[in-house]
Amino acid sequence: MSERIVILDFGSQYTQLIARRVREAGVFSEIHPCTRPADEIAAMQPDGLILSGGPLSVYDAEAPQLQPGLLELEKAGGEPVPVLGICYGLQAMAHLLGGGVEAADRREFGPADLTVMTENGLFAGVPEGSTVWMSHGDHLTTLPDGYEVIARTGNAPVAAVRSCRRPHYGVQFHPEVVHTDYGREVLENFALRICGCEGDWSPASFVEKQVKNIRRQVGAEEHILLGLSGGVDSSVAAALISRAVGERLHCIFVNNGVLRKGEFDKVQEAFRGHFDLHLKTVDASERFMAQLEGVADPEKKRVAVGNTFIEVFEEATEEVAQRVGKKPRYLAQGTLYPDVIESVSTGGPSQTIKTHHNVGGLPEEMGLDLIEPFRELFKDEVREIGRLLGVPERIVGRHPFPGPGLAIRIAGPVKREKLRLLREADDIFISALREHDLYDEVWQAFAVLLPVQTVGVMGDERTYENVCALRAVESVDGMTADWAKLPPDFLGRVAGRVVNEVPGINRAVYDITSKPPATIEWE
Ligand code: XMP
Repeated sequence: MSERIVILDFGSQYTQLIARRVREAGVFSEIHPCTRPADEIAAMQPDGLILSGGPLSVYDAEAPQLQPGLLELEKAGGEPVPVLGICYGLQAMAHLLGGGVEAADRREFGPADLTVMTENGLFAGVPEGSTVWMSHGDHLTTLPDGYEVIARTGNAPVAAVRSCRRPHYGVQFHPEVVHTDYGREVLENFALRICGCEGDWSPASFVEKQVKNIRRQVGAEEHILLGLSGGVDSSVAAALISRAVGERLHCIFVNNGVLRKGEFDKVQEAFRGHFDLHLKTVDASERFMAQLEGVADPEKKRVAVGNTFIEVFEEATEEVAQRVGKKPRYLAQGTLYPDVIESVSTGGPSQTIKTHHNVGGLPEEMGLDLIEPFRELFKDEVREIGRLLGVPERIVGRHPFPGPGLAIRIAGPVKREKLRLLREADDIFISALREHDLYDEVWQAFAVLLPVQTVGVMGDERTYENVCALRAVESVDGMTADWAKLPPDFLGRVAGRVVNEVPGINRAVYDITSKPPATIEWE
């Protein structure tokens, strides 16, 4: 089994960042809810445990507590599993061990200078006075028995502690955020020096391992179906799986009627000739539109698209069965780690807000076994793997695009005419981003058509037409996002082009809300 560090999520918005930093140190990391009992965590044979921060106080009635036994885990050789508590994670540790945790006079939020008081492996290479990022309301007032303070800041006499008996550490600051100058080093020190990991996890080693795993799982006979969307995740999944099973992978690309302008052709062009895989295209746009036309409720749009996909896929399964004489037994999906943990995190509200139906759905209805090689990866890791596998940059660097497509970018009832307007406006925005080298600067960008008419004037004529919203965000994984500060001149030019070139739209607005409190998509 490969090295791994388990991160227990106490609800912090930064938990995923911890996982990323540990992986950047070359050690595979995975996040689990803080409610998982110690014996289940022990069964994962972690090389170390990290307890995340969290929004609550350990004294709140519903505050998540550290599960008993987690501080006594042992590795196979009998040595203790190292633990690092971060902020709330430290407080939860201290609280369980009889230390004192109290509300500070005022919430400490922002940068502070760290003074390391005792030489120790956690802070190896961290210079005196380096900046750390604080964000906490409670702090430690008395230490648990056998613990000592190893660092302080001007405001916090207890900025970091360690146990004198076991490799247990706690920091009050957040090493995972970029505002902590040497945070990366602190987490790397924990993973390599304290947990004793070698740090040999990398996208290249991942590919090698997954190819073997897929071959083992699928055997020499079975066939795999994969829904190609033209997006990063399914495209890289196709490249990886085709490396493992060759022509036993059957890709299907469906025109669901709510694709962007020219997309059906562009994706086919990108794949044909580039990859040695079987690609079948199905133009089911009329079938999808029959289910979508007039539907206004966002969740009903998702259900309509999801259900029609299942029908189209079932037919594709039959087609493969006739062609190769065997029904595919597996369905491959490009599900990513954030999709998986949104449902387990104590902090991630997204799952109940929208049903992002690329997780689950299809296979249960279709009786196919799942292959999800990227279930443990973040999007930028998948992009790196795509590059390793030779997937063209224009696919690897694409923005995410939702399964229900433009249907959830027409606020209100889906109509063909509205789809036509939206396609044109979206194409102008995206092409302009590319022309001005801004496409790669944002995480996702798109246009939304609003169910609102406004008055305008063109020439001497009064117009009374639709409004289009432009949305561009910066994000790491889509779970939180900030609106992109695109240059005002650029936005002005795009708005001008949309209104001039798309008859039926006479106003464009730019969305300047972040997630939370908004979401990235409007529906
Ligand atoms: P939200 O709007 O929830 O979006 O902030 C976060 C990310 O998820 C994408 N998204 C979806 N993807 N099916 C998908 O496959 C969906 O139903 C769906 N809804 C949102 C969205 O584009 C963004 O990247």
